Amino acid sequence: MHHLSDDDDEVCLTACPQIPINTGEPSIARVYDAVLGGKDNFAVDREVAVKFVEVPGAGEMPFDNRRWLARVTRWLVGEAGIRQIIDLGSGLPTTSSIHQFAGQVAGDVRVVYVDNDPIVLAHGRALLVENDRTTVVTADVRDPDSIFTNPDLRALIDLEQPFAVLLASVLHHLPEGEDQRVAAELRAYLHSGCYLAIANFHDPGPSDPRARGIETALVEGGLGSGWVRPWPQHRMYFGGLDLVEPGLCPVNEWKPDAETPTDSPVHHLYLGGVGYHP
Ligand SMILES: C[S@@+](CC[C@H](N)C(=O)[O-])C[C@H]1O[C@@H](n2cnc3c(N)ncnc32)[C@H](O)[C@@H]1O
Repeated sequence: MHHLSDDDDEVCLTACPQIPINTGEPSIARVYDAVLGGKDNFAVDREVAVKFVEVPGAGEMPFDNRRWLARVTRWLVGEAGIRQIIDLGSGLPTTSSIHQFAGQVAGDVRVVYVDNDPIVLAHGRALLVENDRTTVVTADVRDPDSIFTNPDLRALIDLEQPFAVLLASVLHHLPEGEDQRVAAELRAYLHSGCYLAIANFHDPGPSDPRARGIETALVEGGLGSGWVRPWPQHRMYFGGLDLVEPGLCPVNEWKPDAETPTDSPVHHLYLGGVGYHP
């Protein structure tokens, strides 16, 4: 994890004066950025990040998740022929972003990033200023209708054509019940040829108490969300969609490549899957 001094906080605030950043409370996007070693975080965020990485192995999870997203994106573009991607709860561009993973396979993929944290919009706009196939929308995943009717999204994504929705590390920040409602409302927008990729914290039960440790570090450590859930609840997110092989599994077991760690101590604490609307 990257450690910054308070001086660094001043530098970022000066560089982004137009963004209403609340540095008094941690934000999910900034805590995640801190764990990934980014610079767009503040002391309140790093306090939560430190509690999270104190759980043995937890610091690896965001990296496992990003590598999973890279493999899923390349598979969607290369194997499934997807040319439209909606990345919900996209986060800050701390590491390579979805349009870059897609661009490794094809040059004509359109990507819409959606997040409810205004810091994501500001950084995303700066990053994507010269890319007319990619945009950033500020919206809340708890209101899928507002996302699919957003004019900026509709300008890039033809909802009549196949598209993929990515929803990585977002549902575990929604309380019990709200996660299933949102997943169901998102599925309702999919039609034949569309995909839904989801990854979240997994609670395997008493066999690994670190799962509860992760939840405590985030929920009680200042963030107020970050719940771990058992496998059946993850499976319900996909409803009646077909699951692309190998199904819903620890992220490092989903179509691993040469860069996928085989010795991760925590990868069974993070489940990912890709649903397909036949
Ligand atoms: C842990 S980060 C994950 C980033 C990225 N999807 C990934 O997996 O690498 C979760 C992101 O979801 C966003 N988020 C959380 N709740 C959200 C909501 N209700 N609507 C939109 N975005 C949300 C946060 O702001 C944050 O950027």
